[in-house]
Amino acid sequence: MSQDNKEEPKEVPVNGNVPLTGEIPLDFRLTPCCEVPKAKRPRPVPEGAWEMSTEGILGPDSQHAYVQRWYSMVQQEKSGAVKFQVVRNDSKRESLILLLGLKNVFVRQLPNMPKPYVTRLVFDRKHESTILTKCTSSGEYVVMGGCCYRPFIEERFAEIAFLAISDSEQVRGYGTRLMSYTKERTKELGLTHILTCADNNAVPYFKKQGFSKTITLEKERWQGYIKDYDGVTLMECVLNPKVDYLNIPSMLKAQKMCLIEKLKEISNIHIVYPGLDPEARKRIRLEDIPGLKEGLEQSERSLGKTIPLESLAAPRDPASLQALHKELQHILTQVKQHQSAWPFLEPVDPEQTGALDYYDVIKNPIDLRTIQERLDRGDYYVTKEIFAADLKRMIENCEAYNGEKHFITELAHNLERFFNQKL
Ligand code: COA
Repeated sequence: MSQDNKEEPKEVPVNGNVPLTGEIPLDFRLTPCCEVPKAKRPRPVPEGAWEMSTEGILGPDSQHAYVQRWYSMVQQEKSGAVKFQVVRNDSKRESLILLLGLKNVFVRQLPNMPKPYVTRLVFDRKHESTILTKCTSSGEYVVMGGCCYRPFIEERFAEIAFLAISDSEQVRGYGTRLMSYTKERTKELGLTHILTCADNNAVPYFKKQGFSKTITLEKERWQGYIKDYDGVTLMECVLNPKVDYLNIPSMLKAQKMCLIEKLKEISNIHIVYPGLDPEARKRIRLEDIPGLKEGLEQSERSLGKTIPLESLAAPRDPASLQALHKELQHILTQVKQHQSAWPFLEPVDPEQTGALDYYDVIKNPIDLRTIQERLDRGDYYVTKEIFAADLKRMIENCEAYNGEKHFITELAHNLERFFNQKL
């Protein structure tokens, strides 16, 4: 790209086109794993409005943590920084060195397992292992983890004996990737299930990898092969032959796109109306707000009753507006006098309250003084709903910042119960 042509669109990397190094680009978009059928009868786009693409509705994929991890894994594998391989005891020197390295990782990470037992199973010719190796600065590959399992080909399941990642490399996504490789390998062998007797500490990890405590595999297929003993939980993962476990994000992308296409048939998710002109100071008529009438017609159809457009409108005549403000002032005065209102009377002062990060966390702050100022302005609360929304937001902010169990949140809920009765 030439330097002076800054506007030229960047190439969007897709699966198989993940660069060897670098951060995930903000505009990174995955290619779905299959072609996504278009909506059969999408709601028509009225004149003056336009259609937002499915990709546009979903936004870039880079925002999701699971995509970021997947991206980093693929990058490391493509650049040769890490390698996953299936190894079994075939008496070859390279295989034996890798199995020895794996045995050492298991012995360190699973201290409760007797060393001879671990050694016996890792080198057992009926077992095989998915091994993760990492390239060191000297270019040598060192075993960082792996999963040792025994495939029962006739019974069409595998049993995981040991699985571990070196402690220096844990919680970086290698454990998940290792399991994905193991699933792909067992699928390749024609197996339908993976079973394991999970140590109680490892149950949450296995759950995140799609294992469940409910065993659906017929007992006749595994009984006698697996010993379910005390202190462990027998868990099962059902393999789906259609799923590419190494590219789950692409599958999720296709599923999300399908959902959006379906939604286009029953909602207006894809229809974008031009916005209102913020410069136009004059009052805007309801019927001139793009999309409002169409939305109302839809609600009428689903509710089976007519909703007059005027019922959405704020009172236009000064007398009814004045009556509304009188009523709101009456409610606000009582709310301010309530015994649980004291934390909400003034805007939060971070210094005084020690809530130094308050305005970093709460992006739309509101309090009873601000509500009073808005009411005094006369043109802000043109409906009761707008007033109620501010009060509600005050309670939600409190809960979001302090948490559900905090005593201030309890006061907030007392106050909420009170004003809900008044509104
Ligand atoms: N308890 C709760 N959650 C755990 C966990 C544990 N013991 N181990 C991992 N997780 C979670 C991670 O936090 C992560 O969650 P997230 O996706 O919501 O962020 C997820 O599981 C996967 O993490 P990942 O980084 O892919 O796994 P890892 O590289 O840390 O490897 C183990 C996971 C279990 C292999 C690793 O912790 C290990 O070697 N432990 C010691 C040996 C062991 O217990 N083996 C299992 C029995 S044989």
